[in-house]
Amino acid sequence: MGMDVLLTGAAGFIGFHAARRLLDEGHTVIGVDNLNAYYSASLKLARLARLRKYESFTFHSLDISQKSALDTALEDSRITHILHLAAQAGVRYSLENPHSYIQSNVVGHLNVLEFARHRKAIEHLVYASSSSVYGERAAVKGFTETDRVRQPASLYAATKLSGELLSESYARLYDIPQTGLRFFTVYGPWGRPDMAYWIFTQKILSGDPITLFAPNLMQRDFTFIDDIVDVLPKIISQPASHHDIYNLGNSAPNKLHDLVTAVEMACGGKAEIILKPQQAGDVQKTFADISAAQSAFGFAPKTDLQTGIANFVKWYRDWHQA
Ligand SMILES: NC(=O)c1ccc[n+]([C@@H]2O[C@H](COP(=O)([O-])OP(=O)(O)OC[C@H]3O[C@@H](n4cnc5c(N)ncnc54)[C@H](O)[C@@H]3O)[C@@H](O)[C@H]2O)c1
Repeated sequence: MGMDVLLTGAAGFIGFHAARRLLDEGHTVIGVDNLNAYYSASLKLARLARLRKYESFTFHSLDISQKSALDTALEDSRITHILHLAAQAGVRYSLENPHSYIQSNVVGHLNVLEFARHRKAIEHLVYASSSSVYGERAAVKGFTETDRVRQPASLYAATKLSGELLSESYARLYDIPQTGLRFFTVYGPWGRPDMAYWIFTQKILSGDPITLFAPNLMQRDFTFIDDIVDVLPKIISQPASHHDIYNLGNSAPNKLHDLVTAVEMACGGKAEIILKPQQAGDVQKTFADISAAQSAFGFAPKTDLQTGIANFVKWYRDWHQA
C-alpha cells in the first residue's frame, strides 16, 4: 500500500536520496526543510529541483523548531508515516554554534513528536539518530544498540541522544510507534560539503594540501548512501511495536588513510598532507554491529569504500562541470 510520508530535511543529503527512493516506489512524499545556510544552499535547491519533477512530491519551506510550523503548513495534508531527518549535523560545528543544535535537534525533534501525537493517522515515526551517541569506546567489536550510551563526546552527540530519549518518552506516553536509526558516516553522490570525503576530493582536484587530524588513530565505519536507501522504505513500512533503535552502518571500519587513498585513486592525484592532533569532539573509532537490522529488515550493505568513493568522485566532477 502506498504511504504518505512526511519527510523532514528533504533537501538534505540523506533526505534527498530517501525521497527519491520513496517516490520511485510509488509513495507520496511531503517534504519540509528550512534550507539553512550551514552549507551551500544552491546544492540543497538543486536536490529539491530534482524532487519537484515528481508529481507526488510537495514541499514546504519551514523551520521545525518553530512551534506549530508543521501544524499550520500541513493542516490539509494526509500523512501516514514520518521520516524525520532534519537536524543540524556536524560534530565540529557544534563547538562553534551550540544553540543551533539545541534548536533543530532538541526543540525541533520535540515539535515533530508533538505533531505525531496529535495526528492519529500516523502509523510510524522513523527518525535519524547517529553513531556519535556511542562516544569514545574501545572497539574491538562492533557497537551494539544495547550498549550503555551515556558519554557523548560532543554537543552534536548529546542532542542526538536527547532525541532518542524524547522519543522513548513519547512512545510510552502516547503510544507512537517509533524507530530510531543510528547512521554511521553516510557518504555518496549529492553528499555533504562539510564532510572529509568531499573536502579531500575538492582539495586533491585543485592541488591544495589536505589536513588530517590524528590519522593513525582515526577509523570510521563509512556507509554508502545506496546501501541506506535500499532498506529505508522497508523500515518505514514496518511499524515498531513500541520504540526500536537500529545501527545502520557498513560494519567494516576503514582507517582515515584508506579514505585518502580511495579519494586519490578516484581523482588520479596524490594528496599533500598536513598533520594535526585530534580535534575536540571527535571520537577515534566507529564500528557498527548491524545484526539487529540484518535480522529485522535484511539490511545488507554491499559497497566498499573504494567503490563508493569512486562513485562519489564521478558525481562530484559532473556536478562541478554542470
Ligand atoms: N550523513 C551522515 O553521515 C549522518 C550520520 C549520522 C547521523 N546523520 C543524521 O541524519 C540526518 C540527515 O543528515 P544529512 O547528512 O542528510 O544532513 P544534511 O545537513 O544534508 O540534511 C539535513 C537537512 O535538514 C535541514 N534542517 C536543519 N535544521 C532544520 C530545521 N530546524 N527545520 C527544517 N529543516 C532543517 C537542513 O537544511 C538540511 O537540508 C540528520 O538527522 C543527521 O544528524 C547523518
